[in-house]
Amino acid sequence: MITYHEQERIFKLDTPNTSYLIGIVDEENFIGHIYYGKRLKDADASYLLRTEEPPFVPGKNNRERCSFYDCFPFEYPAGGIGDCREGCLGIRTAGGHTGAMLSYVSHEILEGKPELTGLPATFGTKKECTTLKLLCEDKYAGMQVELLYTVFQDTDAMTRSVKVTNVGREHFYLTKVFSASLDMDNRDFDMISLHGSWARERHIQRKTLGYGIQNVSSVRGESSHQDHPFLALVGKNTTQDSGEVYAMNFVYSGNFRAQAEVTQFDYVRMSMGIHPENFCWKLEAGESFQAPEVVMLYTDKGLDAMTNAFHTLYRKHLIRGEYRNKKRPILINNWEATYFDFDTEKLLSIAKEASKLGIEMLVMDDGWFGKRNNDDCALGDWQVNEEKLKGGLKYLVDEVNRLGMKFGIWFEPEMISPDSNLYREHPDWALAIPGRPAAQARQQFVLDLSRKEVVDHVYEMVASVLRSANIEYVKWDMNRPLADIGSIALPADRQGEICHRYMLAVYEMQSRLVKEFPHLLLENCSGGGARFDPGMLYYSPQIWCSDDADAIERLEIQEGTALLYPLSTMGAHVSDCPNHVVGRVTPFETRGIVALAGTFGYELDVTRIPEEDRNMIPEQVALYHQYNDLIREGDYYRIASYSQNHKFDCWQVVSENKEESLVTFVQVLCRANFKSRRLLLKGLAEDKRYEVRFVNDKEIQTKVYSGDTLMKAGLLIPSFQGDFQARLIHLVKCEEKF
Ligand code: GLA
Repeated sequence: MITYHEQERIFKLDTPNTSYLIGIVDEENFIGHIYYGKRLKDADASYLLRTEEPPFVPGKNNRERCSFYDCFPFEYPAGGIGDCREGCLGIRTAGGHTGAMLSYVSHEILEGKPELTGLPATFGTKKECTTLKLLCEDKYAGMQVELLYTVFQDTDAMTRSVKVTNVGREHFYLTKVFSASLDMDNRDFDMISLHGSWARERHIQRKTLGYGIQNVSSVRGESSHQDHPFLALVGKNTTQDSGEVYAMNFVYSGNFRAQAEVTQFDYVRMSMGIHPENFCWKLEAGESFQAPEVVMLYTDKGLDAMTNAFHTLYRKHLIRGEYRNKKRPILINNWEATYFDFDTEKLLSIAKEASKLGIEMLVMDDGWFGKRNNDDCALGDWQVNEEKLKGGLKYLVDEVNRLGMKFGIWFEPEMISPDSNLYREHPDWALAIPGRPAAQARQQFVLDLSRKEVVDHVYEMVASVLRSANIEYVKWDMNRPLADIGSIALPADRQGEICHRYMLAVYEMQSRLVKEFPHLLLENCSGGGARFDPGMLYYSPQIWCSDDADAIERLEIQEGTALLYPLSTMGAHVSDCPNHVVGRVTPFETRGIVALAGTFGYELDVTRIPEEDRNMIPEQVALYHQYNDLIREGDYYRIASYSQNHKFDCWQVVSENKEESLVTFVQVLCRANFKSRRLLLKGLAEDKRYEVRFVNDKEIQTKVYSGDTLMKAGLLIPSFQGDFQARLIHLVKCEEKF
């Protein structure tokens, strides 16, 4: 619900458990951020803007205007006029000048949520959400700025975005446009962010927030393996189950910066948006720039509550398409099975064996096109290599379909190999700074997607392959960061637009793809999980989480990913062993149990794995079918974290009606002479009794316990031998009350 309190000049935005207050002050109509926190009963809180304290407002004390600017909690700060904290909006006028300051003009409160042109964004019906459009201006710069806020009925997560319009007569340049800012009092916060590398994505980091500016960012042209477009400020005592959390997550897949600045007065400015490096967008008179959306959340109930709010928002208001609430076909991908060394016969032999075991889809990975027999060449030549695929693609797909399986295929549409026909024909289609040889990564360049003819060509190549056979799944990959940001098609003063134009083009292509092929299951991927973000989730209900599918490495990767994203989105497979990245040997059973917490599938040569492993596949398939609805739709709770205790990991999902739950326990290292472990479960109904069954340990007797006791006193996980062992524990309600 959103209300405007005219007398107090206050906007009050309420989610089920939080309130967000914005106030207009002084005759100059400054827009201040009053409050974000637990839900308030009324809006009478403008005193929190501290305008009754020196330096007061300029209307009362114009000699200290700069001091006012430097401490006022601005709702959306610009910069260069006196507020010396880092602002969110930067412009350079035609005359070369900078500096801007916004004031309130008007507002609208709308039912529902407008779309953001060309960008991924959350959505909701008129009943489900309400939007505030706050129009502000800088009349000196000829600029209007629309701040958009949406609150939803079914989650505390809310969204913000910003649109800048040139209402003057001359062009100006936007040199920075963040999408959200939050000025508040510091409360001895810690800062939580996600970091990693290739094969080691989204590990959680928590550290003390100190004075000055601290940020996480990417200038790689993708949201990146290294840093994640997420930032949370949490109380020192915040745990999984209690304490304050302020979080922001960016619905964008390109360059970003997420930042917190602690100031001289112990205020914090938390902000998020497109990274200003390499960004400069020219706005001609009358033109607008729509910045992407930020998801914001406050809770005083700890990190699990944050997680659940994000999961609800993404499941119900971001992910789209046929598969969003459906079980995904269990796939087998040939990457780790064959790399580039495959042909029709090999793929069919894998498919034949897989279909007997209950696997439902074969995915043909990299290497099926042009003369791509290694990763040195042919990106851009999306024609089937009929030397490998004798009889053509349609023949292979039909044969796979005849086995009762679906067929999926890999593309890396955004790239071009120097050794490709496409590059030989169009060397200027690669991003490059004129006069400077562009740098290769994985022996490839990035296509200049700021050019429409390039985008149209690439789309057509992908689409015509999909039109040629019954292909029901696409893995859309992107295997290198952007560099050499230059385009011969744009004038000098628009070169700073390339990275964002690139992202808009990726979104446009994926949008076209899911429109033309509405039944297609799209899985995004970027060298594993370098583009696992809410932007991509708008187009694909699942994203490949990491190229490292070792069961133990995955514990940290999946913990960090699930902190924000539903398990239904996490591409997780049982992969080959010894693991191709870390060389670790883990039991097949454990690999299966860890992959169950994601989309589930296989990434190995099923014709060559040990027989006892192969024999386990039908059981794993059955587990998937039995528990996937619960895993996909249930509430997720973190029970214990291997990344913190270095011994074991444990998570739990609980159905919405609290009648069923699945606990996964992974013993990373066994300890000698040790008793059972007591773990406090979560999310159950206090007044229900549950039958607790150790699914893969028949020696442990099934018993009945009350939800109340399991949550307050705990469940005992009996001690067992062996490293890298996992237990799956299923709880089912067995009688209404007791
Ligand atoms: C990336 C993906 C892998 C695989 C290879 C193919 O690394 O993450 O799963 O598709 O590309 O080149």
